[in-house]
Amino acid sequence: MQLLSVAIENYVREHSISETLLLSELRRETYLKVLMPRMLSGPVQGSVLAMLVRMVRPQRILEIGTFTGYSAIWMASAMPSGSKLITLDINEELSEMVQKYIRRAKLQDVIETKIGHALEIIPTLEEPFDLVFIDADKINYLNYYELALEKLSSGGFIIADNVLWHGKVVDSGKKADAKTQVLKDFNAFVQQDSRVENVLLPIRDGLMVAQKK
Ligand SMILES: C[S@@+](CC[C@H](N)C(=O)[O-])C[C@H]1O[C@@H](n2cnc3c(N)ncnc32)[C@H](O)[C@@H]1O
Repeated sequence: MQLLSVAIENYVREHSISETLLLSELRRETYLKVLMPRMLSGPVQGSVLAMLVRMVRPQRILEIGTFTGYSAIWMASAMPSGSKLITLDINEELSEMVQKYIRRAKLQDVIETKIGHALEIIPTLEEPFDLVFIDADKINYLNYYELALEKLSSGGFIIADNVLWHGKVVDSGKKADAKTQVLKDFNAFVQQDSRVENVLLPIRDGLMVAQKK
């Protein structure tokens, strides 16, 4: 389910920070060469992430789910100087492509990539992070959220992607499939969690933004 009409989506894009030529090339290469290219955030969500980064001015970002590096490059380009973004992915096959675009974006000193299962890597990372972007396997969203909260500075933010799950979280009258149920449970958990203040932004597939108190 598309939350916004194509016309509105285009209008929003035309009135937001533009995707750089490099990011547009990365997006095109992802759609040409990589399986499930729709996992990539896209220009509107990329510009939203970049603006949130400009507002928060995080010194350290953790991204869970690199894919081809599209969202990492959007966020890293908006970070203050001297800051660092660590991005994790279990899939080694995309590494070469990710590194190529990080080099071309001249962000080698800002973005550090790590390969492996996020649940194993996160506990080994130095803390704190000021912003954590959760965008990997949905089944582990609550686990990532708990680990992220532990590593987050006070006042820091968690942003979790796909929390509207193509609108399926509000489907009534039929039993939710496993991933939909995971996301419904995740949203309900965050909503009642007294450790955070949260807002669900209906951007693209839904961004849950939670600030640690
Ligand atoms: C939706 S994509 C990330 C998209 C990217 N953030 C963007 O917007 O361009 C999800 C990624 O999570 C990765 N992933 C899935 N399970 C993982 C795990 N257990 N640990 C680390 N990464 C994982 C997948 O390999 C995939 O590349």
